[in-house]
Amino acid sequence: MQKRKTVLDLQKMKADNQKIVMTTAYDFSMAQLVDRAGVDVVLVGDSLGMVVQGLSDTISVTIEDMIYHAKCVDRGLERAHLVVDMPFMSYQVSVEQALRNAGRLMKEGRADSVKLEGGEKIAPQVDALVSAGCPVVGHLGLTPQSVNTLGGYRLQGRSIQAREKLKKDAIVLEEAGASMLVLEMVPTSLALEISEMLSIPTIGIGAGVYCDGQVLVCNDLLGMNLSFTPRFLKRFANLEEDIVQAFEAYIVEVRDGVFPAPEHSFGGKKPKEVARLY
Ligand code: KIV
Repeated sequence: MQKRKTVLDLQKMKADNQKIVMTTAYDFSMAQLVDRAGVDVVLVGDSLGMVVQGLSDTISVTIEDMIYHAKCVDRGLERAHLVVDMPFMSYQVSVEQALRNAGRLMKEGRADSVKLEGGEKIAPQVDALVSAGCPVVGHLGLTPQSVNTLGGYRLQGRSIQAREKLKKDAIVLEEAGASMLVLEMVPTSLALEISEMLSIPTIGIGAGVYCDGQVLVCNDLLGMNLSFTPRFLKRFANLEEDIVQAFEAYIVEVRDGVFPAPEHSFGGKKPKEVARLY
């Protein structure tokens, strides 16, 4: 069995000036495909609330949901590092709560790291998790679990004060022991400053090209949701149309009696009494 990448491997990639490639996956089949393609890090994001469960945000995602999807993805990975999101209110309440839930994500979900949203306020949780042997990925900028206090999915770190606060949060997270940091929807210049300040890798989404790596939600980059059009998204395939066309072709062939053809069937010739129907 091949060894999965560790946080040390990923930190070495930053030191060696090698970009880190991260995407999400929520099930076994997708995990196998992204692993085979050579992605470095796979995130079971709580974005599964929207992508898999059809919710309008990530707030209702539970620790049980995360464990279920982490287990599915874990079985598909051989080389990529597996990060699993801690969902809303599974770590904010107390250090003890964070330890219990991160422990479940690692023991039951086989996460290699867990990801938490927030800065200074969650530093005690980050410190305790790392001390207990649980690698932590931070997440700053647009933190979707705080969409109700941020007032929407919008660019963060625009004012001088907001930039300074994000820089301080980034340093505090690194000092607390975080091994990577996701930066979501912040100006390119701020992401550059933070990436240069920190020795741990930064992974950007809507944070420009100077981060040490990039992350996109797999369904978005595959073009499986054409109505989602944020500026930061580049589609590397157009699967929404391909998938609908494939199902349309299947429907036509079944209705016309073209599928299944003899090569998809068992037992040779059609029985005489059935043949009359065609
Ligand atoms: O939940 C998620 O998929 C994420 C990424 C967008 C970084 O947090």
